[in-house]
Amino acid sequence: MRSETAPAIRLEDYNPPAYRIDTVYLNVELEPKATLVTATMSVHRQPETAEGTPLVLDGDELTLKALKLNGEPLPASAFAASDDRLELRTPPGEPFELTLETEIDPDANTKLMGLYRSSGTYCTQCEAEGFRRITYFLDRPDNLAVYTTRLVAPKATCPVLLANGNPAETGDLETGSRHYAVWHDPHPKPAYLFALVAGDLARVTDTFTTASGRPVTLNIYVEHGKQDRCGWAMDSLKRSMRWDEEVFGLEYDLDVFNIVAVSDFNMGAMENKGLNIFNDKYVLADPETATDQDYANIEAVIAHEYFHNWTGNRITCRDWFQLCLKEGLTVFRDQEFSSDMRSRAVKRISDVRLLKSHQFPEDAGPLAHPVRPKIYHEINNFYTATVYEKGAEVVRMLKTLLGDDAFRAGLDLYFDRHDGDATTIEAFLACFEDATGSDLSRFSLWYEQAGTPVVTVETEYDPGRMTFELSLSQEIPPVPGQKTGKPAVIPLRFGLLGPNGEDLEVTSAEGAQISGDVLILDQARQKVRFGNIASRPVLSLLRGFSAPVRLDQQQDPQDLVFLAAHDRDPFNRWQAVQDIAMQDLVRLTALHGDGHPPVCSRNVIDVFGATLRDMSLDEALRALALTLPGEADIAQEIGKNVNPDHIHAARAVLRREIGRAHVAAFLEQATELVPAGAYAPDAASAGKRALANRALHYCAVSASGAAGIVLERFTSADNMTDRLAALTLLVHDAMPAKDEALEQYRARYEHNSLAMDKWFMTQATDPGPETVEKVRDLMIHPLYDPTNPNRVRALLQSFATGNPTQFARPDGAGFELIAESALEIDKRNPQVASRLLTSFRSWRALDPQRSALAESALLRVSSYENLSRDSRDIVDRSLQ
Ligand code: TRP
Ligand code: ZN
Repeated sequence: MRSETAPAIRLEDYNPPAYRIDTVYLNVELEPKATLVTATMSVHRQPETAEGTPLVLDGDELTLKALKLNGEPLPASAFAASDDRLELRTPPGEPFELTLETEIDPDANTKLMGLYRSSGTYCTQCEAEGFRRITYFLDRPDNLAVYTTRLVAPKATCPVLLANGNPAETGDLETGSRHYAVWHDPHPKPAYLFALVAGDLARVTDTFTTASGRPVTLNIYVEHGKQDRCGWAMDSLKRSMRWDEEVFGLEYDLDVFNIVAVSDFNMGAMENKGLNIFNDKYVLADPETATDQDYANIEAVIAHEYFHNWTGNRITCRDWFQLCLKEGLTVFRDQEFSSDMRSRAVKRISDVRLLKSHQFPEDAGPLAHPVRPKIYHEINNFYTATVYEKGAEVVRMLKTLLGDDAFRAGLDLYFDRHDGDATTIEAFLACFEDATGSDLSRFSLWYEQAGTPVVTVETEYDPGRMTFELSLSQEIPPVPGQKTGKPAVIPLRFGLLGPNGEDLEVTSAEGAQISGDVLILDQARQKVRFGNIASRPVLSLLRGFSAPVRLDQQQDPQDLVFLAAHDRDPFNRWQAVQDIAMQDLVRLTALHGDGHPPVCSRNVIDVFGATLRDMSLDEALRALALTLPGEADIAQEIGKNVNPDHIHAARAVLRREIGRAHVAAFLEQATELVPAGAYAPDAASAGKRALANRALHYCAVSASGAAGIVLERFTSADNMTDRLAALTLLVHDAMPAKDEALEQYRARYEHNSLAMDKWFMTQATDPGPETVEKVRDLMIHPLYDPTNPNRVRALLQSFATGNPTQFARPDGAGFELIAESALEIDKRNPQVASRLLTSFRSWRALDPQRSALAESALLRVSSYENLSRDSRDIVDRSLQ
């Protein structure tokens, strides 16, 4: 017997609530094993609801201790309470006050949803449906209420008491050993934005004065001893606040903005009103323990959560199908922020790499869903790359299609018209239509259709007529359960390069709407003809990755080389280098399959050499261009019958040959390109380190004495970026000093859990032949903690997603490890388990032997009778 699949929730079934709760007073008496929550709420019936309609509130693992209506206890016959539901059979017709007392056990809360303790600190996570684990409630985003929260706790263990909004009152209780604090949040909000924190935390404080002159106190709370790692987060917060004022005209709206860092957290961070709670990996940084990537991530996540104050909190979602309304838009906003803080080109390339490596496979496999899903069984499983990253791409396309000013006008109208609302994608799009007079009904398909459109392009130059013609077509590959896709509106940014690499001016074009350098493909097939073209141009299409599509263009290798050298769009220059490498990697992989000796093409080797020496590109861009497509990217490109060993071997050969061909230049970059002065996390210095480490990566397999250079870098590094880059080479390239280096690293960092996550991750992603066994050993290492999501992700998630050869090992041991571990974790933390199980999503693309092994591992998980709803949903869909 196996657990039932949870009932389907459908967008088309949406109904507004029959009753509304508009104010909540929460009194929370914190005790580790028996916290008493008294919720007093004012409830009123909606005019369209018939009198006498039952009031049904959501609950989850709750015990009801007392219930009163307008201050009077209710007879047992008037209500029904179970752990997941409270029904009031015949509520009064007039507004009434409901008082509920529930008892909860924060220490037993291993799901990390609702109220739990992390290293002794009480904290909450309510999105999406965690508030119902605190009290019975209308736990849906369209019920907006004003919250007042009173926290009571022992002074000694919980000197810090925080909740949403502004501080209202504090004091001691009679006995003196306990104290209380009252917080009031004047902004009506859905329950998922509720938060409280109580514990013994250190505080780093600063102030910010808004554009209109209001002072805001900024606090970051962390465990004692970690205060000196909060500087970058605080700096990022202040820059985010200023940027949102300057770029979008949006100001902060409370007297305080609090951030709390906790070490046990299911996701990255949470935008609770006025009280953001963070996974500490997105707060804490210093040069000794954080990489440049960590610094960039902290900046982006701090900004993301702060930006939610307007896109998510002031304007929230009507229902969870609209999740991309807040997430897609907020990701777009944080991407723009990072672009303005750093290099726009580098940021764009990084974002597109993420999209292609995470979202494209999701969209091409059994877990594919539209940016706005139509159906779900478990909403926690829809915090996906599609909703977040593709959702951001859709907003970006809107900007590309409408132009900067019209886009801004539409957003202004959105903030104006919907402030205080729980709304929908339709309402969002209507603002752009109304502000600009354009019709977005076809564009809205981007929210409806799953699957990555494939855009095919062929070109023909006619010297007699002096015309250059593009034959374009688009198609969405089949998605299970979806009718054939309709043509989407695809903005294609483009350029035609003349013989010297300059962009030709387009003087005559027919066959498509073209504005500036954007061509709009909106038919299944379309021919676009450019006139007055004196010689055959080279097409640069999809500049800046202007749409989330796969481009199928059999480009001539010589044209790619030309683009790699001349395209004035840095994204497409990078793309051209990647395409050249990808063509060869696919070819080399096939050669491996056939047992032929792999010989790399001269083209790739030359282009990599030219890129390395191209001083017109900054270091960060060169580092990115010199990074070969990942093994998973190559697998995606191959698409079917994938053999990860052949891919790995092909990539290793190309890396070695590139290294050998340019060994002197790589050595020079690896050893001489050191930013001057003390470590600084800025983009320019980070770019230098990235290029030096990329060069070292090639030297490691080509230079004589490489092992010594890498070990020296590991030992003498004055920052984590360089130290970890060197450690990764030592481990992944099985250098002689590997074990000694791992041991040194452990000794140095064993008391820093974020740094130790990197230690686990480096070993889990080792492509060596016995990593499955190594991971099993690490699972019984004293520092492994299966209850800490970061640690589980560092060891198991990174193994499953970052080690394709070992995960898909032909003896099935990798699949077995992940299936077995997911089952174990599922008993404690379903969200972490189901996320781990998504690593099977591309199993059908593997070769027959491997896909059979993956399927049987999934079936084994599926046969487990007490599987959580989260994991059941992922496994069912993966097998469908
Ligand atoms: N809203 C959060 C964000 O994107 C996401 C999030 C944080 C979340 N914690 C969660 C989603 C727990 C589901 C469950 O910033
Ligand atoms: Zn978010």
